[in-house]
Amino acid sequence: MSEQKTNWWRDAVIYQVYPRSFRDSNSDGIGDIPGAIQGLPYLAELGIDAIWLSPFYKTPNKDGGYDVADPRDVDPMFGTLADAESLIREAHAHGIKVIFDIVPNHFSSEHKWFQAALAAAPGSPERKRFHFYDGRGVDGNEPPNNWNSLFNGPSWTRVTETDGKLGQWYLHLFDSSQPDLNWENPDVMEDFKTTLRFWLDRGVDGFRIDVAHGLAKDEILKDHRDPDGLTKALRVDTTDMTKEERVSLLTDMPFFDRDGVHPIYKEWRKVIDEYDGDRMFVAEAYIYPTSRLARYVRPGELHQVFNFDFLLIEWDADAIKEAILRVFDELKEVGAPPTWALDNHDSPRVVSRLKREAKARALALIAHALPGSLYIYQGEELGLPDGDIAPEFRMDPAFIRSGGKDLGRDGARIPLPWSSAERNFGFSDGTSWLPQPANYKEFAIDIELKASDSFLHLYKKSLELRKNHLGLGGDAGITFQPAPSGVVYFKRPAGFALLANTTESPVKLQIDEPAKIIHQSQPGSSVEGNSVTLAGNTTIWLQS
Ligand code: GLC
Ligand code: CA
Repeated sequence: MSEQKTNWWRDAVIYQVYPRSFRDSNSDGIGDIPGAIQGLPYLAELGIDAIWLSPFYKTPNKDGGYDVADPRDVDPMFGTLADAESLIREAHAHGIKVIFDIVPNHFSSEHKWFQAALAAAPGSPERKRFHFYDGRGVDGNEPPNNWNSLFNGPSWTRVTETDGKLGQWYLHLFDSSQPDLNWENPDVMEDFKTTLRFWLDRGVDGFRIDVAHGLAKDEILKDHRDPDGLTKALRVDTTDMTKEERVSLLTDMPFFDRDGVHPIYKEWRKVIDEYDGDRMFVAEAYIYPTSRLARYVRPGELHQVFNFDFLLIEWDADAIKEAILRVFDELKEVGAPPTWALDNHDSPRVVSRLKREAKARALALIAHALPGSLYIYQGEELGLPDGDIAPEFRMDPAFIRSGGKDLGRDGARIPLPWSSAERNFGFSDGTSWLPQPANYKEFAIDIELKASDSFLHLYKKSLELRKNHLGLGGDAGITFQPAPSGVVYFKRPAGFALLANTTESPVKLQIDEPAKIIHQSQPGSSVEGNSVTLAGNTTIWLQS
């Protein structure tokens, strides 16, 4: 094993704060860093080990802050640099580590480098920090290749040169306001090292790397054989595509998961290793096959990589068991801990995705009992569903660029309800940037704190047991036991066992030693000696 067991992040529970929607401290309707600081006592009480903050840097906010205009400054909408520094300090005072988001695939088009590139001539050093090329066809009217943006439409936009004429094109895998950086240019590496050090010097404990699989591109001037197919394959929209075709498209993407990303992370690792305090990187890499994820966490590279299985998984015992075993299998050679997540700011919330609260509660209890590190997206601990949002409030570039065909991700980004009786349920005294649905009232933190059967209490109890009593996040093994169809049954050390019934009906089964229920996703199950009656759509934790 390359890493020590003592690394805090190996079994940490990490809570994702989407600052814009967490808590507003100054009544402008937008969540901010001082608001995040105000929320720390709540998070400490919840029992998490670390927070990961989505971007709060200078931004024109065309993509929820993932369009960064200055990665070493805070956007006034979120506060000041001093606020970011106090957040680190205050979180540490609560025993909470702090992970920031770093966005290396692209800058905002408002970043000074891109503005300088626009003002400079084709072929200039300023342009070589991005991917600028002449167009094809008559007068260069056609983009340099046929790749699609992940947010719909072409991945190229044409600029107007300083003489007022239409000129070169630049590459953007995401929105046109997010020009991709050219990582073959050493300026880019230098600048990112400066950014890493900037925040490491201020005490940050780690970074979540946005689109970590995208930095290296192959054969930019070559057309892709099926760009629309690739777009669908990436969206898991495979209604008119065979599985083989999807796999073949995803295993050879010219702009994702190229070998060229790895030398970059080896350099970054050297930078973070200069610092004491057990700092870490976690990569967002949406790639296929998932066995390639282990390459990102080889010794000398990153510490963790997100595993998105549980964000997509069906409520199905075989699928769950297979996903768990696969992750361990894929990571065993590199010694990195697995990571688990049911939700994030880019996906439908788990309660809405599985359509039934009972299923989401039961899936959560499986995730909470697994070795490795657990990511919780704000509001997940309340069992928040996605909200319906009127079109005029939607601002996800995926919604805008598709002309509304793709609803986008705003439904999972609605501000948190803190207190049922207050305006905006306590999120803000002003006009919330995204209105909350009326039913968010019943999920408000004050209400859930009072109800002993709430989602919040389910999570609190899990985290408490997991960390302080059972050490479930630790590396120690997991052994699946034979079980009736539709049931997940595994054991962990020290007499711990988990049973999950993914069917609608109760199931009766025998366990090999008498045990008692110490935690359950909902009532209705019972154990007598070795005989268990497991209610439908339920997970129970057993201790013998
Ligand atoms: C990542 C972020 C997502 C963002 C995209 C482009 O996938 O999680 O929110 O839109 O990168 O930066
Ligand atoms: Ca605010």
